[in-house]
Amino acid sequence: MKFIHVTDLHLVEESEILWGLKPIETLDACLADIQKHHADAAFVAITGDLAERGEVAAYELLKQRLSTLGLPVLLMLGNHDDRTNFKQVFSDVPLDHGGFVQQVREDHGGVFLFLDTLKGPPSSAGLYTPERREWLSQQLDKAAGRPVYLFMHHPPFSIAHELMDKIMLDDPEEFAALLQGHDVKHIFFGHGHRAVSGVWRGISFSALPSLNHQLPLVGGSVETVYSHEPPAYAVVHVTGEGIIVHNDAFYDRKAATMPADAERGTWY
Ligand SMILES: [Fe+2]
Repeated sequence: MKFIHVTDLHLVEESEILWGLKPIETLDACLADIQKHHADAAFVAITGDLAERGEVAAYELLKQRLSTLGLPVLLMLGNHDDRTNFKQVFSDVPLDHGGFVQQVREDHGGVFLFLDTLKGPPSSAGLYTPERREWLSQQLDKAAGRPVYLFMHHPPFSIAHELMDKIMLDDPEEFAALLQGHDVKHIFFGHGHRAVSGVWRGISFSALPSLNHQLPLVGGSVETVYSHEPPAYAVVHVTGEGIIVHNDAFYDRKAATMPADAERGTWY
């Protein structure tokens, strides 16, 4: 099966510029590229920071854009989001028993769990409270040994980034304890505004650039906190043998400087 991972839209009003860029323009280009090249994807998962200031108008803009995508979309909240405003606009999104934006999707024999790690202002960190943990624990039990894939905004571990590690999930040990004894294959997250991948306690993980502004790997390598680097979405294949994650820098993709007929048919 194939699905798409997108993160950190940071939507503002349609005409507004955020850190030199218009978030809605990148989102429009992203969705158009997905429609054109990946209309056969099982779903699109967007791992939070949907709106820069959690405003109703931004969620309405997102809802309008997603209405014509033609693919199921799973939305999560990040530290820039407002749970109340989100639920007001996306009133049909499934919630857990505590009203948190958490849902499950069973697809191709796998269990895909979409988590709510929003702690709330003024903190930008994440939090996974006992009632949210209870929901996750129940879902993991229900998975009954089937492969599980987790989606969340905040990473539950250090990603070796000076700034991001200060605002990761606040309660990583409690979170890690929940996963023991279950077949969690991969964690997809956002928040870092960077492409990051690796393995944590035997579980592979991947994260993506934002669709708007990025975070330089080395603080001070540019004179601003944020940087301009290519946005991307990920195309994820779950095969019988493992997981393949392609990051596609759709917004910067263009033909190479070469004749259109050069280098064709000579590779194999
Ligand atoms: Fe973000």
